[in-house]
Amino acid sequence: MIRVAVAGAAGRMGQTVCEAVSGAEGIELVGRADPLLGVALADVLAGAEVVVDFTRPDTALENALQCVRAGVHVVIGTTGFDQASLERALNEPTDPSRPGMARANVLLAPNFAIGAVLMMRFAAEAAQHMQAAEIIELHHEGKLDAPSGTALRTAELMAEASGAPPPPIHSVRLPGLVAHQEVILGDLAQTLTIRHDTIGRESFMPGVLLAIRRVSTLAAPFTVGLESLLF
Ligand SMILES: NC(=O)c1ccc[n+]([C@@H]2O[C@H](COP(=O)([O-])OP(=O)(O)OC[C@H]3O[C@@H](n4cnc5c(N)ncnc54)[C@H](O)[C@@H]3O)[C@@H](O)[C@H]2O)c1
Repeated sequence: MIRVAVAGAAGRMGQTVCEAVSGAEGIELVGRADPLLGVALADVLAGAEVVVDFTRPDTALENALQCVRAGVHVVIGTTGFDQASLERALNEPTDPSRPGMARANVLLAPNFAIGAVLMMRFAAEAAQHMQAAEIIELHHEGKLDAPSGTALRTAELMAEASGAPPPPIHSVRLPGLVAHQEVILGDLAQTLTIRHDTIGRESFMPGVLLAIRRVSTLAAPFTVGLESLLF
């Protein structure tokens, strides 16, 4: 059994993750941390092997460092925080005053839905063959960060693949939306649109469960994107 604690357990994503983890074979839910439940992350770390973090941009970095210092692997779904700071902190040499500190891995994925991972992959391929592109990302009105982590990652992958600057991103926030993205590519007398729609948060759960099962086996201490586990 993999012992899992969820940070942000009272949130939209956290509640769905708790349900998915509770029903998954070989995984046990051992803690729900959330200020709304009166439970701090520190209170659930001792019993956990993996923490899944779906919290807020202003707390995800500190949460991840707290887990790693405790030797607990982290699967991060939270977006909109300074990913470079986390990477730098993880690459710092182990504190010599704590030689016994266990090594822990971090897997950060801006989107755990298989369709979104494929959208990013196809967009990166298309960017190599078409003149220009723009990204439109559309989310529910409660989303705190803009542009979305998925749009930023898509733009980064497209730039890496094409050698061109990252495409512009447009953000829409409206009630009635969950998580949606369109990548529109343009060329002489034609356009290509690649679109992904998330209509329920269950779409993220197979990816989250895969990440929980595999995070301890990753070769690097810091991995970005579910694609590293899928392809
Ligand atoms: N990677 C993905 O596939 C994916 C999918 C959907 C959403 N997200 C991201 O996940 C994050 C959460 O989204 P949401 O819609 O569930 O937000 P939400 O506001 O519904 O939930 C966040 C929860 O975190 C709690 N929280 C705040 N500080 C905390 C702390 N220090 N420790 C523990 N819990 C804390 C809040 O009380 C709240 O209950 C956002 O950054 C969002 O962009 C990622």
